Amino acid sequence: MSENRYLTFALTKGRLANQTLALFEEAGIFCEEMKDKTSRKLIFVNEEQKLKFFLAKGPDVPTYVEYGAADIGIVGRDTILEENRNVYEVLDLGFGKCRMCVCGPACAGDLLLHHERIRVSSKYPNIAKDYFYNKKHQTVDIIKLNGSVELGPLAGLSEVIVDIVETGSTLRENGLEVLEEICTLSARMIVNPVSMQMDRARIQALVTGLRRKLEEESHRAD
Ligand code: PRP
Repeated sequence: MSENRYLTFALTKGRLANQTLALFEEAGIFCEEMKDKTSRKLIFVNEEQKLKFFLAKGPDVPTYVEYGAADIGIVGRDTILEENRNVYEVLDLGFGKCRMCVCGPACAGDLLLHHERIRVSSKYPNIAKDYFYNKKHQTVDIIKLNGSVELGPLAGLSEVIVDIVETGSTLRENGLEVLEEICTLSARMIVNPVSMQMDRARIQALVTGLRRKLEEESHRAD
């Protein structure tokens, strides 16, 4: 592919983007423009390295990558599973570690055990549906929420929730607990399948460089 083509990255706004940019710098990928917090720019360019970057809301990142508006995306595995887009997942960045769990008051454990038809509220209806219908073969009613999901059982909207647990403190402070673990999560790099064909060498070199840095870091932590 032409050396002049820009590679475009869609990064998830917030903490994930900051951690991503720190790792990228260690691997020699720079975007000085992005550090200027006063800037109103939406797309940041590194002319020298022929790279472009933009920030997007998590659930929009796989959309940009699937349609090829971004070649590469950095996003949580929760979002990848929920959005189920046609993208390649090429690298686990190791940060943003947490778990997707079924949570609720301790008494809801019995309802799960006996496969009762319960109500499940979640920001992740597709993950919840896949878990209960395809893995557990349990019929449930799924209720989509947009945030503060722990409120579901507290307000009597649902018996349990499917949500992210990081430190567990939100659950503890609200008298809820992890009842079942669905999967582990962390930040991942995703790639548009056509970009992967067109720019295979460049993308693979980038992934190899990042993987090496991550391995060095994990050795240092041992
Ligand atoms: C997430 C998640 C939990 C909380 C878990 O919510 O939905 O509520 O963090 O973290 P903890 O285990 O460390 O307490 P977020 O802060 O993203 O906001 P939201 O509730 O509006 O989705």
